[in-house]
Amino acid sequence: MRLEARGLVRVFPDGTRALDGADLEIRTPCFMVLSGPNGSGKTVLVRHFVGLERPQAGIALADGVPVEENLADTRRRVGFVFQEPEHQILGITAGEDVEFGIRRRVPDRRERRRRASSALKAVGLAGAEDKLASALSGGQKRRLAVASALASDPELVILDEPFNGLDPAGASGLLRMLLDLRDRGVGILVVTHDLEKCLAHADRLAVLVSGRVAADGTPRELWDRLPDLGLRRPPGGPERLGEMTWLG
Ligand SMILES: Nc1ncnc2c1ncn2[C@@H]1O[C@H](COP(=O)(O)OP(=O)(O)O)[C@@H](O)[C@H]1O
Ligand SMILES: [Mg+2]
Repeated sequence: MRLEARGLVRVFPDGTRALDGADLEIRTPCFMVLSGPNGSGKTVLVRHFVGLERPQAGIALADGVPVEENLADTRRRVGFVFQEPEHQILGITAGEDVEFGIRRRVPDRRERRRRASSALKAVGLAGAEDKLASALSGGQKRRLAVASALASDPELVILDEPFNGLDPAGASGLLRMLLDLRDRGVGILVVTHDLEKCLAHADRLAVLVSGRVAADGTPRELWDRLPDLGLRRPPGGPERLGEMTWLG
């Protein structure tokens, strides 16, 4: 599928110009990274793709149709994993949490359970159906949030700062899982201010600066510009891209 932001503008009541004419296109299949310094507008931008923000100017499109005109369908096709997984957990147990998101779409209880089990398995939480969601580790909660997104069989999953707060084992486990989903044809958009541990896997990188997409291309093409765009990377040439991963 194809998501597009065209000329998105978002000015908050306090005058903060979070988006200032942002243009971006995402086409599946992909493992795309959207980066940029803290406060550059990444979160506000991607929230437009699932209708959590309404465009003040410009437009967000899913396969050419405004997201707002096709909200339920877009939300089914585009999974969204919030920066704080706690904000997303709605069930007491892991299984209930995943089932909650598909309760309307899949009225049959047994089918719902089956889908929840399969989504939990896909994120490495097989057999966790009856575990208390609140008792899961940070990395497991994030995987649970991904499982909830996967239960509706999305074409693309957007993850906002998914590695934040995870220890190295949790982060590498999550990254491995995302690469596995990518290999199965699910589009992945990782939103992160820190490229250091995932850029090696990206087929495309877009960089937001002050609410505009300042660079868009392959990591190799953008390598020399990264420091000027406020992004950290190892010194030297793009042959060092392979080091930018959680997988050791
Ligand atoms: N609800 C809000 N009210 C006022 N300012 C906001 C709000 N949400 C975000 N901002 C501001 O908009 C800018 C972009 O925010 P955000 O998209 O969260 O940045 P990023 O995700 O790149 O760190 C920041 O300056 C942030 O402080
Ligand atoms: Mg953010």
